[in-house]
Amino acid sequence: MSTVKTASTVKTASTVLITGAAGFIGRNLAAHLSEQGVRVFGVDNFCVPPTGPLPLPVEHRDVRDLTPEDLRGVDTVVHLAALKSVPGSFHDPANLTHNLGTDHHVLAVFAASDARRLLLAGTCEVYGQQVGHNREDDRLRPRSPYAVGKAATEMLADVYRSLAPEKEIGVARFFNTYGPDEGADAVVPAFLDAVHEDGVCRIEGDGEQARDLTHIGDMVRMLATVLAADRLPEVVNLGSGQATCVREIAERIIEIAGTGRIEHVASRPNEIHSFLADMGRFRALFGAGPGRDLSEGLAAAHRGRLLLTARRDAEPTATAR
Ligand SMILES: NC(=O)c1ccc[n+]([C@@H]2O[C@H](COP(=O)([O-])OP(=O)(O)OC[C@H]3O[C@@H](n4cnc5c(N)ncnc54)[C@H](O)[C@@H]3O)[C@@H](O)[C@H]2O)c1
Repeated sequence: MSTVKTASTVKTASTVLITGAAGFIGRNLAAHLSEQGVRVFGVDNFCVPPTGPLPLPVEHRDVRDLTPEDLRGVDTVVHLAALKSVPGSFHDPANLTHNLGTDHHVLAVFAASDARRLLLAGTCEVYGQQVGHNREDDRLRPRSPYAVGKAATEMLADVYRSLAPEKEIGVARFFNTYGPDEGADAVVPAFLDAVHEDGVCRIEGDGEQARDLTHIGDMVRMLATVLAADRLPEVVNLGSGQATCVREIAERIIEIAGTGRIEHVASRPNEIHSFLADMGRFRALFGAGPGRDLSEGLAAAHRGRLLLTARRDAEPTATAR
């Protein structure tokens, strides 16, 4: 199914610091890299309570308090910490300043440290309203404060590339990532929960908005592949290259769960009509990405979420050390 290079190419000698390591992508990436023999350290300020078990201890620390000395012995920093709510970025102006301040701090600390590589979490949201595939070279048209912050961080990355040319700074533009232990506000877990709660999948707007969905297992494999590259790409899309409309996502989940119905509610401000990753650059650098079928991925997420909910009801999740 996949020709993506992963385990054999991950540099097992490297030491990786993950920021936002208690978050959805962070804890899954930490588990994956650890399984491959990579030394992984994680920091998180827990401003977002973890929605799944932590595979390794995560230091309770705000990224904005890190110093270059904290990166001693670290080869690679994967910076995932952020407030990622798009609607939240409209409601709370501090969201943008939090993210941009955090990203700038990471770049400055990294530049002053001995660490060699920094991979920043970008987002498809920077593409804004476009028709067809989203390519890395497309003009950025952010339509939310959250996306403006991520676009500004990419510009800051350019600034620090010129200040520290001997180092590598890459940006991974994530498209929508889903999995059983994702926060409940994202589209897939919201529908997975809804079918077993009041049975109503609430679609914002007409449901024709298309999303490029990648299962978390595939996403961490792609991330591990990027991290194993001889040189980090300056910008690379990480997605599936397939678009599915929100109405179809709801319909598939209702079919998998065997229960549920759809209701339409008000649409979001400035909602983007379509995200669709052009995966040409990733393929050219690393070969075909993992291509888990969406129905199979959603069914696995459904099973995982039922298990997680049952476990969470029985015992509280792990917390910071
Ligand atoms: N999940 C997706 O589909 C998706 C899509 C596009 C981009 N992204 C980006 O990927 C990254 C990871 O996303 P995620 O889904 O794991 O999000 P998440 O909300 O699950 O995790 C983010 C983590 O960052 C932590 N954090 C926030 N600010 C911090 C700070 N100043 N210091 C320390 N910790 C801090 C939070 O407590 C949280 O645990 C984010 O940058 C997000 O913007 C995610």
